[in-house]
Amino acid sequence: MTPDLPICRLLNGLWQVSGAHGPIDRQAAIQDMLAYHDAGFTTWDLADHYGPAEDFIGEFRRRLAAEGGVEALTRVQAFTKWVPEPGRMTRAIVEENIKVSLRRMGVDRLDLLQFHWWDYADRGYLDALTHLAALRDEGKIRHVALTNFDTEHLKIIVEQGIRVVSNQVQYSLIDRRPEVRMSQFCQAHDIQLLTYGTVAGGLLSARYLNQPEPSRSALTTASLRKYKQMIDAWGGWGLFQELLASLERIADKHHVSLATVAVRYILDRPSVGGVIVGTRLGVAEHRQESASVFSLALDAEDRAQIEAVLERGRDLYRLIGDCGDEYRR
Ligand SMILES: NC(=O)c1ccc[n+]([C@@H]2O[C@H](COP(=O)([O-])OP(=O)(O)OC[C@H]3O[C@@H](n4cnc5c(N)ncnc54)[C@H](OP(=O)(O)O)[C@@H]3O)[C@@H](O)[C@H]2O)c1
Repeated sequence: MTPDLPICRLLNGLWQVSGAHGPIDRQAAIQDMLAYHDAGFTTWDLADHYGPAEDFIGEFRRRLAAEGGVEALTRVQAFTKWVPEPGRMTRAIVEENIKVSLRRMGVDRLDLLQFHWWDYADRGYLDALTHLAALRDEGKIRHVALTNFDTEHLKIIVEQGIRVVSNQVQYSLIDRRPEVRMSQFCQAHDIQLLTYGTVAGGLLSARYLNQPEPSRSALTTASLRKYKQMIDAWGGWGLFQELLASLERIADKHHVSLATVAVRYILDRPSVGGVIVGTRLGVAEHRQESASVFSLALDAEDRAQIEAVLERGRDLYRLIGDCGDEYRR
């Protein structure tokens, strides 16, 4: 990610423990976190509002230190978010919220604080980021980052001289909005993209190949429901099946899974620092399959086959707007 913050480029996403994706057993979840860590998946993506996610990091770190010594903690990276309600952003308010995350996660310094803002008409985001940058300089945060900012407002932040190292955005074979403006801007300013939705809640996997269009009630997680809507906007189930079929042919050729091809394609895009894949801790896991992404190399023919389907999809930038526009109030 940065020289002082090496990461696993496949990050474990913890929105899946929030309750919106089914119940999670706390003990089984912590045990599973240790298994992810042992398998080399050492980087976690979470947020202050993902239910117990920050507390899970705290408990996981305590278990890891008890079992492997405090040395083991140096290999963990935990990236949280702060998603405040709009309003005045004083130093005291910002600091108070950061303190809560520090306490819950059991750390002296946050590795990465990803800041979200609901309303660009309220310029309080610049105050909040200025205070976050000061807290970084004082050692409470290693790096300041963003989530769901569009290119226009990312540019304003950069022009204010506020250093941010990454922006977390939706980016997948279905949702390629970052390629319109964001990615180029990030390349020019040494900002990395951390991507979510890259396996579309699991829809971009062999599970859905040659399957009839799922009804809303068959979509059992918040994530599946969210990305099914993206597929509908992009081109519908018929075109999506063509994409899955094309990915499956490529996956067969390389002896990997369909989902692995979908992840590798995005990992290879300019400015992408890492792909976040949601983990339903203690319920389901894809560790071995996910690890194959690091040895997979897609060739020009693979990419051409994928792009031949993608070019028939609708332009989501025109339909929805730039990155994160669906989150503006
Ligand atoms: N900044 C934001 O606004 C924002 C928004 C959304 C998400 N996020 C972050 O991104 C993370 C990912 O969330 P997401 O909603 O985008 O979900 P996702 O990663 O697109 O989907 C996660 C689901 O995909 C399935 N899956 C993963 N690997 C698979 C594989 N190899 N084969 C088949 N299925 C596979 C799993 O389903 P099963 O569990 O059923 O196996 C898993 O629960 C979140 O946890 C969060 O950290 C951030």
